[in-house]
Parts: sequence; C-alpha cells; structure tokens
Amino acid sequence: MIREVRLLGDPVLRKKTREVEAFDEELAELLDDMAETMYHYEGIGLAAPQIGIDLRVTVLDVTQERDGSGLIELVNPRIVESSGTIPSEEGCLSIPGVVETIERAAEVEVEHLDRSGEPATIAGSELFGRAVQHEIDHLEGVLFIDYLGALKRKLVVRQFKKALEEQASTER
Ligand code: CO
Repeated sequence: MIREVRLLGDPVLRKKTREVEAFDEELAELLDDMAETMYHYEGIGLAAPQIGIDLRVTVLDVTQERDGSGLIELVNPRIVESSGTIPSEEGCLSIPGVVETIERAAEVEVEHLDRSGEPATIAGSELFGRAVQHEIDHLEGVLFIDYLGALKRKLVVRQFKKALEEQASTER
C-alpha cells in the first residue's frame, strides 16, 4: 500500500525513532509499504518517519532498474565507521522543490538487521553511501537542510513553501 509522505513541518520528522523489537508480520508489511511508496514517488530512499512511523526502519534503492532487484531494507541501522568527506547534491521526498549541496562522509559502514532479525553489515560509498547517511539521519529526526547555514536554510524553507503553494494552486 502506498502511504502518505509527510512533509517538512510535520513534527513526526523531528522525532527520534524507537528500535524495532518485533520481527513480525507488521514489520514485513511496513517494509513492503515503504518500498512501494519509495518507488511510487521515485525516491532512492525512504525512512519510516516520512510515513509517520517512529521506528528505526529505512529502505533504499539507488539502482536504475527500479524493479525491486536493488531494494535494500535496513532495520535498526547504525553507522559504525565513516571516513573522508565529499560534497554532493541532495534532495528529500519530504522537502520537494529543494536540492542543495552538502558534505557527508565519503564512505560508511552500517550495521543493521534484516526483516527476520538477522544481523548484517553493509558498506556504502558514492550514491548509496550518501543515501544511507541521509536515511539514518531521518531516524534521528535530522533533515539534510540542517547542514545548511541558518540564512541558506531560511531561504530553502521559503522555496519549499512556495513550491507547495504552486502545487496546491495547480491542483485546484
Ligand atoms: Co529524506
């Protein structure tokens, strides 16, 4: 089921998430819905708070195929190593209309569980490395615009609100 994506200003995006403790049917359904929602809105990643759920869960797919073959599910992910820094452009399904360049670690290593609770480690660099840092930030209530300077952030929030208004007026 495609879920509604929460937008900047929704308090759930600022809430710190809880660890998943039950690896049950409900978690499987959440992961399935998150993947479906991510593909529907053409995102490369989606974190549970973005659909209003305060759990440490995220899905990603940075491949071109978009058919589920590149889907990665991370439950209770945690960055255990990071190295280097690299600037790159970033956007977010919760902040449509905004793309800004920010710096992140060039390489990260992430410990996580799969949907059945099995532990695993995944290394990330380039697009996946960036996306996974962005999604794990969501689980801490952090958005990519938080890395911008105060003035720039004010500007992009205005830009986001304007894009929303324009969208609303074309839908009317
Ligand atoms: Co995002």
